[in-house]
Amino acid sequence: MLQYFFGLVYLSAVLLYVALTGTHAAECPLQLNPQRAVVRYNGSVSVNCSTSVQHDGIGWEASEGAVPMSRDNLITWRVSNLREWDIEPFCYINPKDGDQCSLYLPVTIYKTPDSVSISTVNHIGPMKERNQYELQCDVLNVAPVQYLTVKWYKGQTLVDQTNFTVTIKTPVNKTATLMIRPDRSDDGVQYRCEAELKLGEEGPRPPPKVTSKPLSVEVYYKPKHSSSTETINLSSEVTLNCTVKANPAPTYTWDSEHLKEKITSSVLPSSKLSPGNYTCITTNSQGSDSKVFIVRSTGRTTFWAIVITGVAVAVLLIIGYGIYKCKSSPNSVI
Ligand SMILES: *[C@@H]1O[C@H](CO)[C@@H](O)[C@H](O)[C@H]1NC(C)=O
Ligand SMILES: *[C@@H]1O[C@H](CO)[C@@H](O)[C@H](O)[C@H]1NC(C)=O
Ligand SMILES: *[C@@H]1O[C@H](CO)[C@@H](O)[C@H](O)[C@H]1NC(C)=O
Ligand SMILES: *[C@@H]1O[C@H](CO)[C@@H](O)[C@H](O)[C@H]1NC(C)=O
Ligand SMILES: *[C@@H]1O[C@H](CO)[C@@H](O)[C@H](O)[C@H]1NC(C)=O
Ligand SMILES: *[C@@H]1O[C@H](CO)[C@@H](O)[C@H](O)[C@H]1NC(C)=O
Ligand SMILES: *[C@@H]1O[C@H](CO)[C@@H](O)[C@H](O)[C@H]1NC(C)=O
Repeated sequence: MLQYFFGLVYLSAVLLYVALTGTHAAECPLQLNPQRAVVRYNGSVSVNCSTSVQHDGIGWEASEGAVPMSRDNLITWRVSNLREWDIEPFCYINPKDGDQCSLYLPVTIYKTPDSVSISTVNHIGPMKERNQYELQCDVLNVAPVQYLTVKWYKGQTLVDQTNFTVTIKTPVNKTATLMIRPDRSDDGVQYRCEAELKLGEEGPRPPPKVTSKPLSVEVYYKPKHSSSTETINLSSEVTLNCTVKANPAPTYTWDSEHLKEKITSSVLPSSKLSPGNYTCITTNSQGSDSKVFIVRSTGRTTFWAIVITGVAVAVLLIIGYGIYKCKSSPNSVI
């Protein structure tokens, strides 16, 4: 029991010792401000190294901007045109009680791309609906590639992004690709790619980015009517309008027993119409589609047809009656 008690006291003492000294001993008594440097290539940088403990000297070690050992409590590493991609500065201290220790400063040197361009791979000219194509984005001379994101825009919409995982500090050329399968609504749409350097909290706000010129996509698609038949009541204002969107622009032909001449217009005026069926065939290089217009006589014509028929029947009846009267009593006429 007593042994157990002493064991517990000993353990507590050890824990207390570690808490008071152990953790402090492991940490170098230096503060860097900022803790990470993000610098544009050939740009300027300054980082403070400070301490609050008694010491025999602190200093900055670096291939550029080194600060010799000093008795001050704050020293600044400063470079006005930083062009060394793999610089690794560190601040060191000789504490009054303790061994020399040092703190590395992570430095990210970035360079925005010289150019960002978009193109189609192995293809020129208009694209065909529902075929697959590859777009390519070339980013020239960018660093560091691990912070690079290539964003793809279709019109104003972000459609994809490409990240890069390699860790190379010096500028590289990178290519990102995007597979697309255009449809008829994509005719005339513009694609762009954008190279963005997401450099983190210490980096510039907003993150630097370079955007390509837009790439206009032309899509070939065949004509497609929204309905294959349409019933139309004949009147003097009515026209048959077969106009439909297609690329390249379609040609029109009309087929009907009522049409004597060949018509290539997409619209038939009422002057050419009489009740019956009119088939319009729309064609371009991608295919064709047809539509049947069923032209009906209007209620008004039917009404007049009944009236005229009625009048004709009445006239016939009267004439018939007259003839009958003449034949049955010839005396009455004289
Ligand atoms: C670096 O920047 C300075 C101006 O701050 C400029 O004169 C010099 O040409 C630049 N050098 C490079 C390699 O960009
Ligand atoms: C570094 O220290 C100097 C002097 O105290 C101060 O003016 C400057 O703002 C400090 N820089 C940073 C980044 O804290
Ligand atoms: C690329 O990184 C961004 C964040 O920076 C993330 O949202 C996105 O999902 C990543 N894309 C891929 C394909 O990993
Ligand atoms: C990137 O491409 C350009 C032009 O094609 C070339 O001049 C340059 O040397 C390339 N840079 C690298 C790092 O490959
Ligand atoms: C065509 O006429 C019929 C009656 O003959 C009528 O029911 C129909 O609504 C009319 N259609 C149009 C589009 O005017
Ligand atoms: C025919 O329809 C098209 C659209 O479908 C329209 O742009 C055009 O003005 C119409 N033409 C006539 C003569 O109504
Ligand atoms: C007109 O077309 C309709 C529907 O396609 C069909 O039912 C009708 O028989 C056709 N009429 C004539 C006169 O061809």
